[in-house]
Amino acid sequence: MSEGSAAEPGSSVRPVRHAEFEDPRLVEVYDAEYPWLRDDDFFLSIVNETPRSRVLDLGCGTGRLAIGMAAAGHVVTGVDPARASLEAARVKPGAARVTWVEGTSATLRDDAFDVTVMTSHVAQFFVSDEAWSRTLGDLKRTLIPDGVLAFDTRDPRAREWERWNPVDSRRSIELPDGRIIAAWTEVTAVSDNVVSFVHHYDLTDGVTIQSSATLRFRSEEVVRSSLWAAGIPVERIYGGWHREPVGEGDGELIVVARS
Ligand SMILES: C[S@@+](CC[C@H](N)C(=O)[O-])C[C@H]1O[C@@H](n2cnc3c(N)ncnc32)[C@H](O)[C@@H]1O
Repeated sequence: MSEGSAAEPGSSVRPVRHAEFEDPRLVEVYDAEYPWLRDDDFFLSIVNETPRSRVLDLGCGTGRLAIGMAAAGHVVTGVDPARASLEAARVKPGAARVTWVEGTSATLRDDAFDVTVMTSHVAQFFVSDEAWSRTLGDLKRTLIPDGVLAFDTRDPRAREWERWNPVDSRRSIELPDGRIIAAWTEVTAVSDNVVSFVHHYDLTDGVTIQSSATLRFRSEEVVRSSLWAAGIPVERIYGGWHREPVGEGDGELIVVARS
């Protein structure tokens, strides 16, 4: 049990930052909660526009999409700072076809990739302008000229965080062994499109774990200007997974840009 992350029922629990990526008990829950869905279909279709491409999956997590892209014939590198997530990725069927790197974009080689993806809102984890522009600088450097960058970020106009409360966000997650995990999410602070929140998980053995995080919700205008400044201008932005215009669809900004 990681210190401060869990307690007997009724006692106080201190949230641990990014526990759902760092704590193996929650990595299993994350994997069960987020199977292959239409966002993965979308990103795979974008990657498939460049056949047999060298793909960087930055923030690959437990590797669902990375393994899928490798199975589709791409040469995939999955990068993530969360060791427990990568350990879960490495033992999945098909994982041996992916190169797994524990770290961030900072250590990657120049001109190494034809396509880069950041999926399930990884882009929002770069909260400060400085962290975002440094990451975009790395992605520009590591993409070949004319390379593709695709990612999703929630449209702040959809104000999704207003549904991150104990009532609207309450959910049950079934693990592969049949255990049911109760979970809900609670916002703790909102300021200037920066939202902090805590995920609560009731594990079946009476243990409660809380995982905290902070995300930045960038507007379409900020996304466009930051990518332009990084030398990876936007080619297309969609509002939903069926390529709806921004403002329609799923409350997303789904970005395809070119270096
Ligand atoms: C919501 S998960 C998405 C994981 C995966 N892309 C998916 O689709 O399931 C966000 C991921 O971003 C990773 N992450 C957080 N900070 C990062 C950073 N500075 N560089 C790369 N990845 C980061 C986390 O460890 C986590 O695995």
